[in-house]
Order: sequence, then C-alpha cells, then structure tokens
Amino acid sequence: MRTWQRCEQCGHELDELAPASVCPQCGGLLELRHRFFERGDALTRTFSARRQSLHGTDVSGVWRYRELVLPSATPAQIVSHPEGNTPLLERSRVSEWAAIERLLMKHEGHNPTGSFKDRGMTVAMTQARRLGASAVACASTGNTSASLAAYAAHAGLPALVFVPAGQVAMGKLTQTLAYGARTLIVRGNFDDCLTLARDASAALNIQLLNSINPFRLEGQKSIVFELLEQLDWSPPDWIVLPAGNLGNTSAFGKAIREALEIGLISHAPRIAAIQAAGASPFAQSFHEHFAKPVRVTPETIATAIRIGAPASWNRAVRAIRETNGVVASVTDDEILEAKAVIDAAGVGCEPASAASVAGARKLRAEGVIGPHDTVAAVLTGHLLKDPGILVKYHQETTPAPSYANRPIEIDATVAEVERVIAG
Ligand code: F0G
Repeated sequence: MRTWQRCEQCGHELDELAPASVCPQCGGLLELRHRFFERGDALTRTFSARRQSLHGTDVSGVWRYRELVLPSATPAQIVSHPEGNTPLLERSRVSEWAAIERLLMKHEGHNPTGSFKDRGMTVAMTQARRLGASAVACASTGNTSASLAAYAAHAGLPALVFVPAGQVAMGKLTQTLAYGARTLIVRGNFDDCLTLARDASAALNIQLLNSINPFRLEGQKSIVFELLEQLDWSPPDWIVLPAGNLGNTSAFGKAIREALEIGLISHAPRIAAIQAAGASPFAQSFHEHFAKPVRVTPETIATAIRIGAPASWNRAVRAIRETNGVVASVTDDEILEAKAVIDAAGVGCEPASAASVAGARKLRAEGVIGPHDTVAAVLTGHLLKDPGILVKYHQETTPAPSYANRPIEIDATVAEVERVIAG
C-alpha cells in the first residue's frame, strides 16, 4: 500500500479509498500516510522538471508534488483548474513597516478562486470523485465555500454550503452563488455551521469537504513545498500564517515533517500561527502551554478567521510543538493597518491574510523573530474578497484612519484638478 488513512487519536488504519470522514472506531480525525519511494535530490529534480511542462497535471502547483500529495490519483480522476503557482513577493514598504529585513509574502490570493483553499479543494474534490460521491458539502466563513462551489461545478457534482448569516464577506458569498452552490445561510456562527454540516452530511450521505477531511490538508501542504522550492529548498527561519479552524497550521506542520523525513530540507522552519485577538482560543491555550483546549465566542473584522472552536486542534498543537513554533494574536486595528500597508504596496490581500504580517511585526517587536531572520508570511486571500471593509476604511470611517485614501469628488474642469493637486 502506498497511501492509507490513519486515525490520529486511536491509530486505527483505513484504506485510502474508505469513504469515512472521521474514524469509525473513535470519531477521531483521520490523516493520510504515504510510503515515500523517492527522496531528496531525485524528487526535487522531478518537481523542477515538471515546471517546464505546459500540459496536464504538471502545470498545477499542487499536483506537481503529487508523490507527496496523493500519488495514486490518475490524471483522469484529477479535478484541477489548475491551482497553485503563487508568487513569493518582497516589498520594501511592507518589510520596513514590519521592521523585518527579509520579509517574503507567499500570495495565495493568486489561486483561481482567490484563496489558498483551492489547493486543498483540488485534492478533496478529486477524492470525492474517486469515491463516487453524489454531492459535496462544507461549512465556511466564505473562502472554502467559494472554492468548493467552483471545483464542484468543474467536477459536475452538486454542492451544498453552510455559511454564517451576516458574517461572510461580499466577494466570497457572491462567488459561491455564481459558481452555483446551493447556499444555506445559517442563523449562527461558523462553529454552528460546521456542527450542522457534519451532522447533515452524515445524515444525507454527502461528502464533507471541510479541512477535517484529510485530503484537503494534503493539497494545502503544497503551499510549503512550493515556498521551499522557490527558496531552492533552503527553508526560511519562520513561516507565518493566519489561523482560524487550524487546518492550514496542521497542513504546514505535516508538510514540514514530511519534507524533513524525505530529505528535502535539513532543518525545520518555525511556524508562527496568528489569530485575531477576538477569536484567539489557540493563542490563549498556547500561553498556557496547551494545557487545555480553549473555546471562545468569536468576534473580529477578519471574518475568514472568526472561529471560536477550531476543529483541527490536536494536529495544530503537534505542528507548533514539532517546529518549535509560536502562536500569537493581533487586534483588529493591527490587522487593518497591516492590510493598508500591504494594499498600498500594490500587493493587496483580505483582512485575515494581513494578520500574518501584523503578527510578524509584533513578534519582531517582541524579539521572538530575530533581526536577521528570514520570514515568509502567507497571504491567504485576495484583496477583492472583502470590498466592504475597504469602502469602510477608505471612505466612511471618521476620523480617517492613518492610511485612508479618500476619493475626492470634483466638477469636470481642469481648474478643479489643479486645485486638488495643488492642495
Ligand atoms: N485565511 C483565510 C483567507 C481563510 O479563509 C481562512 C479560513 C484562514 C486564513 C484560516 O485557515 O481555518 O485553516 O486555520 N477560512 C475557512 C473558510 C474557515 O471557511 O473559508 P484555517
């Protein structure tokens, strides 16, 4: 067997093609295990050769790493847009603001539906098709639902999504509708939506594609592989990412573990997971050495990470522990300021994504990140995901925030233009 599923809680093992969404013995979360046949340089050469290809699954920044993702999937089974191939950016304005000499931004907003979710979704949708699923579902703060809707449309599967009423950014909700998912707006928060999605998909025999689904994490690992490849397999000191339901933190931990195991890298980058202060159960627990899980009623302007009861808790704890990582939180004001700086550098991202750069700045100020450390911050979603927050920040907030760029209304005369430019 090359790939199989294993319960993280009780160790029970299942076939790769078992349709269970959690362990049938104890209800624990499942993870994928792979037997790796190629290692080190042989693999990195294969990955780099595939970059030359113009056709097929090699052009996907997920499936290019297929030996580490889902080796048994055949090209005919793969549902790919393609996705991945996101840029690694460095902008002096952002580095100066964060007071970090070498601050790189891995921009996952460049994915087909504008967030990193596409990397997990291509794998989970491929697996759903391999299992012969009749429909797929997820709970979401917006990005997962947009991604699921697009990939389900591509796969020709009906999609059902559960989103919290009044708490999903406009870009994400409209994407979900446009791509054709049956959209249920639930009177409750994300945590309520996830409970409902789990119960409803079990009752109705629908494939659940939230990040508790281990196939999602396999795809999301490719953010780390691609980042490492862009750095010639020389790891940064830190990888900083926003954290909500903790699927991505878990995926990053697994990617680093496997990259070490097969000799792609010689030492682990440290993970810094950043939460919004009003939705920071993981950060609070970290400060008590993860003695016990914490649950909160979440509140933040970064709606993507407005989550109080993260589902992938234990595996994210493992990711932080194994990489000697840290968890921190930043206020909504810090998120908005970081976002304004990233936006004004011509890069742009959605609010939750800016938490990574805000967190990097804070950890640098506290001396956790060293003065000469290389830091890779993940920007998880595109600027246009949340236009509402931009209108508020630039046009409607009084007094104007420090980086507000107010538009100026004028009469259609050159004199007016001159007056404005002079003033
Ligand atoms: N950044 C963005 C833009 C997100 O959409 C999410 C999660 C995260 C960060 C956090 O990732 O949950 O794996 O810790 N969005 C999910 C959704 C919850 O439904 O779209 P996480």
